[in-house]
Amino acid sequence: MATYIGTPTARVDGRAKVTGGAKYAGEFNVHGLVHGSVVEATVAKGRIRSIDTREALRVEGVFDVLTHENRPHMAAASDAYQDEVAPGGSPFRPLYDGRILFSRQPIALVLAEEWEIARFAASLVRVEYEKEPYATDLHQLLDAAFEIEKPAKPRGDARAAHAAAEMRHEADYYIPIEHHNPMELFTSTAVWDGDGKLTVYDKTQGVQNVQRYLCSVFGMNADDLRVVSPFVGGAFGSGLRPQYNVALAVLAARALKRSVRVVLTRRQMYALCYHPATIERIALGAKADGTLDAITHEAIAVTSQYEDFSRNDTTWSGALYKSANANYVHKLARADLPTPADMRAPGGATGVYALECAMDELAVALDLDPLELRFICYSDRDQNADLPYTSKELRECYRRGAAAFGWAKRSAAPRSMRDGSELVGWGMATGIWEAMQVKMAARIVLTANGHAEVSCATADIGTGTYTIMTQLAADMLGLPLENVTARLGDSTLSQSPVEGGSWTAASAAGAIGATCDAVRDELLRLAKKVPNSPLADARLDEVALADGKIGSTRNASVAVSIADAMRHGGVDRIEREASAESTDDGKYARYCHSAIFAEVKVDEQLGVIRVTRVVNAVAAGRILNTKTARSQIMGGVVWGIGMALHEETHIDHHFGRVMNADIAEYHVPVNADVHEIEVIFVAEPDDIINPLGIKGVGEIGIVGTAAAIANAIYHATGKRVRDLPITLDKLMR
Ligand code: MOS
Repeated sequence: MATYIGTPTARVDGRAKVTGGAKYAGEFNVHGLVHGSVVEATVAKGRIRSIDTREALRVEGVFDVLTHENRPHMAAASDAYQDEVAPGGSPFRPLYDGRILFSRQPIALVLAEEWEIARFAASLVRVEYEKEPYATDLHQLLDAAFEIEKPAKPRGDARAAHAAAEMRHEADYYIPIEHHNPMELFTSTAVWDGDGKLTVYDKTQGVQNVQRYLCSVFGMNADDLRVVSPFVGGAFGSGLRPQYNVALAVLAARALKRSVRVVLTRRQMYALCYHPATIERIALGAKADGTLDAITHEAIAVTSQYEDFSRNDTTWSGALYKSANANYVHKLARADLPTPADMRAPGGATGVYALECAMDELAVALDLDPLELRFICYSDRDQNADLPYTSKELRECYRRGAAAFGWAKRSAAPRSMRDGSELVGWGMATGIWEAMQVKMAARIVLTANGHAEVSCATADIGTGTYTIMTQLAADMLGLPLENVTARLGDSTLSQSPVEGGSWTAASAAGAIGATCDAVRDELLRLAKKVPNSPLADARLDEVALADGKIGSTRNASVAVSIADAMRHGGVDRIEREASAESTDDGKYARYCHSAIFAEVKVDEQLGVIRVTRVVNAVAAGRILNTKTARSQIMGGVVWGIGMALHEETHIDHHFGRVMNADIAEYHVPVNADVHEIEVIFVAEPDDIINPLGIKGVGEIGIVGTAAAIANAIYHATGKRVRDLPITLDKLMR
């Protein structure tokens, strides 16, 4: 069956993307489009005392200025603003009332015939505030932090075991606020279809999530509101929840009964959501031989005043390494900021960063090779859940990664390797991420001319969903790749949750598999009716689709062509929809793993750090497309470089405001920062997790990467910097 699955298939949407044929939310144009520009609050907390829009309204070309005082009706109850990935609490309601919850909160929308006019007029809106005291610094909020439930229970007595351990390591690691910086700006184009109906082109990871949210907020019927998002220029988690731009575009379209586009500026995107600042406190207790006996992992993260956002930062520790005693604590501290959001491998990227630096420090204290310590602490069971894994080829990741990197040639002492004026450091770390599958439905339309369309309401945020859907359907229907078209990102398509959590490949494969089964069933029914059918007595589980035929899996010559079966049956199309969900029966732990090896070169005089080589060896079950999967891991590694060396949102806590709200001042890796990256996929057969053995690779690439780099920097310099990003001032201090 596997002609395309597992091959390095080029993106089926690649040509459209590089030729401009792929349309993004801000590129759907209609006659008479109105442009909206957002006015942002300049204080971090308080109330709008007055808002004066008269001057803005006098600008020629301005149609209206919407504020909390004059906007059309929106739902009052905060429940109406929930969405499928909303954390607990009361979601933000844009333009709902005069309360200010965070700096740069949207407080007005200027609507004009041109974007430039709207933007100019927005600068003329005069606002007076009643200010209230606010706080935005996690370090100042620790006393008020409150504990939340952990995803795993403690085991044993970590405190006592820690006290009794022969070797102890304890430290705090810090990850600052990071912002998502997708290339595409958050944009919504709400097209007025007449009679109160709307088609909304939105940048989102979940069209049906946005559709339900808008219907709930505006009291609309799903039939009257279609959400479309065929291409997404990056999102990384920032597109999981409906963002305020889409609510404002719909609000304005309903107010004016016209089509409206709202594009946020890059600066405004710094008031949408972010990755929370987190303090990770790790305590490890071990025997002199490296055997772990106590793991304590505490996380303290920032959230907003109105929602409790958190992800699992802590329990990776006890899942990854063998230890009889483990304890987890997770606290949140409320700040006057927007609610944080998922960012690639949320909780994993941060928690595992701390754990893997702590393991490196323990190895140094024990005088053990860091890789050897990982083998000593290796766990063949998920001890949190006390379950075996569906598959876990992490040992092979360590071996293959180490061999490709040349780890055996490492000299143990810090500052012992050099290249001219640069200190050379080699570090490693482990990565772990969940292998999830969610309920998803797919639709297939097979036509007698041998063409199939496979569709689902999921998203492709650059990960390659279009391509794997095409590969899967082509293989399962026995059609050439070019005879299959994939559609996604439209709320009218079959049910899908948001695209996230690295669950889309496994979930889409399940849905497409179930739908192809239904198509095959119908084809067999038709094939049996063909005169003198060789398949007259065949059972469904004995036939497969290949080369445009339905035939016996035992004897390929016993077959009926699909075209003949359909012609004789008098049908020119077969349309089926089916869904699948995880077969998780709680008997196995489901994770993917990786081993990352990094080389850094540090200029001894200047402290400049270069990440010259990274090898990331991944075990993630069956890889559907080795080309797009490799790109995913490379992207994760690049972000790991950014996390280790560059990314940090600076808030001036005096103003409670992000000061580096643009990609000149907010640093992300550029080409010059990225050198050799080698991706290895370790074979990991898994016939338990799902029929094809798919785990997903979107997020695993970032997990552990920053730790491998931080550990390499320690090895190069002998200096341990635990606060990210590791900038040269911290290194030279
Ligand atoms: Mo991802 S952070 O689940 O979009």
